[in-house]
Amino acid sequence: MTIYYDSRTGNVERFVRKIAAKTEWQCLKITGQLVALKPGHLITYTTKIGQVPESTERFMQTNHSSILSVSSSGNMNWGANFGLAADKISAKYDIPVLLKFELSGLEREVNSFIEKVNAYQPMYNF
Ligand SMILES: Cc1cc2nc3c(=O)[nH]c(=O)nc-3n(C[C@H](O)[C@H](O)[C@H](O)COP(=O)(O)O)c2cc1C
Repeated sequence: MTIYYDSRTGNVERFVRKIAAKTEWQCLKITGQLVALKPGHLITYTTKIGQVPESTERFMQTNHSSILSVSSSGNMNWGANFGLAADKISAKYDIPVLLKFELSGLEREVNSFIEKVNAYQPMYNF
């Protein structure tokens, strides 16, 4: 499995390290050059009051066809804007939200993410 992730201040990075320690998954950080060659799950964060980070948005514009689901780190202090980047990406690219978690995530959220990825069933449109 491949995880594509974006992180500015390190919380998503820490969440991803916990996943990497429990799985054999390949975890790739989004850069301007990264091309999603394999299908995978996106983890990003919410910024600027409910917004998708620009780096995530640029990545999605060219790579969205490889992305199976979206998850967002956030902070519940932001109330209704908690993890809203996941909802915005989900609506724009028609992919499911897998998880919203606070900051670098608790152990149970790490386990929940792994379980949800393992249970993920792609939707086929015949
Ligand atoms: C300027 C700013 C705006 C933010 N806005 C939101 C927000 O609207 N909703 C939310 O859930 N979290 C918000 N956050 C919290 C971040 O999403 C959270 O700290 C996240 O873990 C950052 O991930 P990173 O450390 O991997 O960059 C904001 C943080 C900053 C600094």
